[in-house]
Formats: sequence, C-alpha cells, structure tokens
Amino acid sequence: MTVDGLQPWRLRQVDGLEPVRHRDSADDALTLITGGAGFIGTNLADRIAREGGRVLIYDNLSRAGVERNLKWLKQRHGDRISVDVADIRDNERIEAAVAQAVRVFHMAAQVAVTTSLADPLTDFQINAAGTLSLLEALRKRHKPPPLVFASTNKLYGECVARDQLSEEATRYRPRRLGLRRGIDELCPIQLVSPYGCSKGAADQYVLDYARAFGIPAAVMRMSCIYGPRQFGTTDQGWVAHFVGACLQGETITVYGDGKQVRDILFVEDAVNAYLLVQSHMPQISGQVFNLGGGPRNAVSLLELLALLEGLTKTKPKVRFDNWRHGDQLYYVSDTTHLRRATGWQPTVSYTRGIAQLHHWLSGFLGTHTLHRERVPA
Ligand SMILES: NC(=O)c1ccc[n+]([C@@H]2O[C@H](COP(=O)([O-])OP(=O)(O)OC[C@H]3O[C@@H](n4cnc5c(N)ncnc54)[C@H](O)[C@@H]3O)[C@@H](O)[C@H]2O)c1
Repeated sequence: MTVDGLQPWRLRQVDGLEPVRHRDSADDALTLITGGAGFIGTNLADRIAREGGRVLIYDNLSRAGVERNLKWLKQRHGDRISVDVADIRDNERIEAAVAQAVRVFHMAAQVAVTTSLADPLTDFQINAAGTLSLLEALRKRHKPPPLVFASTNKLYGECVARDQLSEEATRYRPRRLGLRRGIDELCPIQLVSPYGCSKGAADQYVLDYARAFGIPAAVMRMSCIYGPRQFGTTDQGWVAHFVGACLQGETITVYGDGKQVRDILFVEDAVNAYLLVQSHMPQISGQVFNLGGGPRNAVSLLELLALLEGLTKTKPKVRFDNWRHGDQLYYVSDTTHLRRATGWQPTVSYTRGIAQLHHWLSGFLGTHTLHRERVPA
C-alpha cells in the first residue's frame, strides 16, 4: 500500500475487504462517498445500502478506528458496499472512482482544527487541493454526476461576538432576538484557523465549479453532528467524546468556560438532509445550506454534561483549560433555507439523540475500546 500516512496494520484489521473492482461503464447506480468509512459517511452508506443502493467508499482510513465502520458495513450489506482504500490526494485513483459514480458525497477531510494548526500544509493538501482534484475528476465526465460537499460552520468564524452575548449561569445567549433564530447563509464568511481556511477554499471551489463549469453541486455548512459510529476525540466529535469519556470514567477537558453553545444534530437527520439535497439537485445546484439542529437543539457544553450526569447517574469528571483558537462562543444554525428548498426538518431532539448515542456507545464499549489518539492529518 503506497498511500501516505496509511498504517498497514489498520488495513489488515479490516477482514473480508478485497480491492475494489472498477467497472467498465458508469451505468451501474453506484454512489461514491469519499471519507465513507468515517462517522457521517458510514451512516449515509448504511442508509443507501439499506434502501437497496450500492456504495463505493473511498477512504484512506487515516482516522483512528474507522476500519471498524467498514467491517460493520460489510457485515450488514455485503456486496452492496465496495471499498477503495485510497487517498483523496491521489488524482488517478479519485478519477477512476468518480468515473463509476452516479452521485457523489464528499466527506473525506482532515477534520480537526487542532491538527490543522499543527500541520497547516497537510491540512490544505487534503481539504483544499483534495477537493479540487475531485472537482477536476467530475469535470472530466461528459455528464458530471451531482456532488454534495460537507462544509462547516467554521467558515463563519466568530459570527457572534462576545459583546453580542449575555452570560448566563450555564450558557451564552444572544442579546438580540433576531440572532436567536440562528445564523443563516448570508452571514459573512470569516475564515478562522487553517482548517477553516482549507474547508473554506474547498467550499468556494465547489460553488465556483457549479457556476463556471455547470457541475451540479451543493454545499452543506454543518454545525455539530453526533450519533452512533462516531469515534469522538478531544480534537473532533466532542459530543461522542464526552459520552465515551463519561462511560469510561475518564476526565473530560473543557476548553474555555463550557458556556459555549452549539446546535447539535443527530446523524440520521443529517443523512436525511444530504439525500434530500441530492434529490433536489437540478433546482438547487450552486447553493449553500446551513445544517444543524437549530435553536431547539442548542446546548452548551455545561448543559450537555448535566444531561450526561442524568443518563449515567455519575458526575462527569471535568477539568478546565484555556480557550482554543477558532472556538466559537455561540453558533446555532438557521436552517430555513434548507427547509424551504427541500422540506427538511430535524426530527430527533437532542435529548433523544444523546440517549441513543449513549445506548450505542455503552453496547460498543462492552466489546471494544475507543482509540484515544489524536485525529491524524
Ligand atoms: N462531524 C461534524 O460535526 C462535522 C461538522 C462540520 C463539518 N464536518 C465535515 O463532514 C465531513 C465528515 O466528517 P466526520 O465527522 O464523518 O469525520 P470522520 O473523521 O469520521 O470522517 C472523515 C473520513 O475521511 C477519511 N480521510 C481523511 N483524510 C483522507 C484522505 N486524505 N483521503 C481519503 N480519506 C481521508 C478518514 O479516514 C475518515 O474516515 C468532513 O469533511 C468534515 O470536515 C463534520
């Protein structure tokens, strides 16, 4: 295996995976999911396969633990899932994968702000240049398949400044009522952190390839997604990280005061949104959609810890540390645009979703351990 940064031992752990066989024609209804072994990609692949579809997962398995997602998908869906263990930076391989696809979801990324600060160049190569390679592969197709890109709310930077917020016992709250509806797509872009910059560049390239080359493509700027098959770490996936740490009696480090607020969204609702956007592509190509749980699912870190205390009947062990660069004090999505365009709405409240994640992780930890290493670049 020649992929940079891929540890061969991880490949060996994925029993039953044989190399993908590239097909000669693109008339087979195959959905390509880059980063499909990851948390959101796995849930999306599972849904598509459950509904009878076929999925090609393109992933270099650099995220610790994701080979277990592949194994799970293969066990559930057999031949409906094929896998190409390859890097998004490998132009020829991604071109071969795109050549077979009838639709594409682009999830592969270096996902952590912390890692991007440690190695901005690699972060750029994966997130920005990797996305550009994918777009070029799409442009080479006579009739490019539609693309949905997983972007991030980090593009909006510090969209709500400290002086616009009042500080309450457990959370920050916007003083202006208008802001309480959430952040919409008209919020100015303000790229913060190398991760914000590389995802921001990718986001803008996707939109421009829709404009300049007519590639059917849409962008989802996501808040925090959580749910089963998420292997959270202190660097990314904080909700699953908190739940896992509580279950294992580990100390959780809260960066800042814990009053920062996020609108969290259960992964099944995120999957619904991705599929709806794909199916509405002719009407919505070239558009951006904010995606998150919205004001009803806005929760601070301290409030989530209190919820976990109720679920686990134990007080989480917590230590506080300095704020981290790029951490937003308040981010809640306004998803009105997505609702109007596709009819999408969140269906799982955060209390129900967290209970489901807790239930899944409790079962998972009965037979597995969580990788606690940092998210690699
Ligand atoms: N989870 C969230 O809350 C959230 C929020 C905003 C945006 N996003 C974006 O959504 C996407 C999916 O996020 P996730 O939470 O499922 O993350 P994840 O880390 O679980 O999945 C990402 C996958 O990409 C793969 N990958 C990384 N580098 C690669 C490379 N060079 N080539 C091929 N594959 C590579 C990893 O192995 C992993 O399986 C990412 O693009 C992320 O930036 C996620």
